[in-house]
Amino acid sequence: MADQNAAKPIKITETVLRDAHQSLIATRMTTEQMLPIIDKMDQVGYHSVECWGGATFDASLRFLHEDPWERLRKLKDGFKKTKLQMLFRGQNILGYRPYADDVVEYFVQKSIANGIDIIRIFDCLNDLRNLQTAVKAANKEKGHAQVALSYTLGDAYTLDYWKETAKRIEDMGADSICIKDMAGLLVPYKATELVEALKEGSSLPIQLHTHYTSGVASMTYLKAVEAGCDVIDTAMSPFALGTSQPATEVMVETFKDTPYDTGFDQNLLAEIADYFRPLREEAIASGLLNPKVLGVDIKTLMYQVPGGMLSNMVSQLKEMKAEDRYYDVLEEIPRVRKDFGECPLVTPSSQIVGTQAVLNVITGERYKTTTKETKDVLAGKYGQTVKPFNTEVQKKVIGDTEPLTCRPADLLEPELDKIEAEMAQYKEQDEDVLTYALFPQVATEFFKYREAQKTKVDTSVADVENKVYPV
Ligand code: CO
Repeated sequence: MADQNAAKPIKITETVLRDAHQSLIATRMTTEQMLPIIDKMDQVGYHSVECWGGATFDASLRFLHEDPWERLRKLKDGFKKTKLQMLFRGQNILGYRPYADDVVEYFVQKSIANGIDIIRIFDCLNDLRNLQTAVKAANKEKGHAQVALSYTLGDAYTLDYWKETAKRIEDMGADSICIKDMAGLLVPYKATELVEALKEGSSLPIQLHTHYTSGVASMTYLKAVEAGCDVIDTAMSPFALGTSQPATEVMVETFKDTPYDTGFDQNLLAEIADYFRPLREEAIASGLLNPKVLGVDIKTLMYQVPGGMLSNMVSQLKEMKAEDRYYDVLEEIPRVRKDFGECPLVTPSSQIVGTQAVLNVITGERYKTTTKETKDVLAGKYGQTVKPFNTEVQKKVIGDTEPLTCRPADLLEPELDKIEAEMAQYKEQDEDVLTYALFPQVATEFFKYREAQKTKVDTSVADVENKVYPV
């Protein structure tokens, strides 16, 4: 039995540069907005700063015309002592479909080479076979491989299931385990049980990641930490709460003068919050931050649907002029999820289940119309679910096609050479190949933009050279 009074400072991963702005302002924080504060953030003593991966890669290319690799290098330059962390979608990397192993390996290698220390790897179906390649690659590059369990509810997800899974994760060679509660479904007393189960199943450090969506998150952290959780994910207060994480300053204060005391300087945190507050105000004024996402959404507990998925669904229904079917779709989502082997709802399974639920409701006949992704899931191309698929639905969707039972990537031919040949004309750095591999269209547009910018800069330099400087 551990000494109850022995100091065991809780470690903190700061999410303001990744999940917090992804969850609250559609991932629109720019590198320029980040850089002025990272020197101060580097002094806090965070376990790590999550600043890359997830939707940031796609969003910076698509909306901000920024090279995500360049952002990573700039952050690495600024954070001299704090570890940088990213979120990685297993075999789907940062995209929406499974990639061949050579792309996964190369992406991990380049992420670490450009500055990532900790890679949090998850699979949208919790099929651990989809994490093997990324974990091995991180081990090889001497990065920290954290395997994240996509937390979800259902008959299959017993404490024994989680405990057994923790054991398998440790056997895989992971360095730590994260409970990834993307929808804010983990309630405080269940967190106690879950952390204890994971601790029984493995000796790895346990990190907890949740969202405030359902209003219980900080209580959940408290119970998890008391149960032995080692690291929690928080966001600086201007970008905390709502669909984001609990506030860093609040959790720090909560554990002050207890064995879990972080030792962080509240004055320093206040200075950092002062920096981010105007960015929040700006986002509210421009409409980027919708006050709606800051409240408690209890529907997330009732329907077990992540907040981001709800807003996606609303915009899909709006496009189809079918907003009045909101509650029908909300009820259809758990049914589709059941047909899909009770999978977790996290990118990309959340999008696939959400879109299919919308189609099932709008067409008036379930699975009359299906997306390619629905077919692929039911054909086993995304991997295995904890429970079997609904065989009737499976038959209706894929007919007599024999579903895969092997690790899906075993059937994917190496892709890198082909991709590189396809985009060679745009390549300025090795990393461009990966950017293109993930988002061919968006990347091409970005490469063209980058090229155009260069000629712009060149002319302006030429202009300046031809002019007499005003003194
Ligand atoms: Co999250």
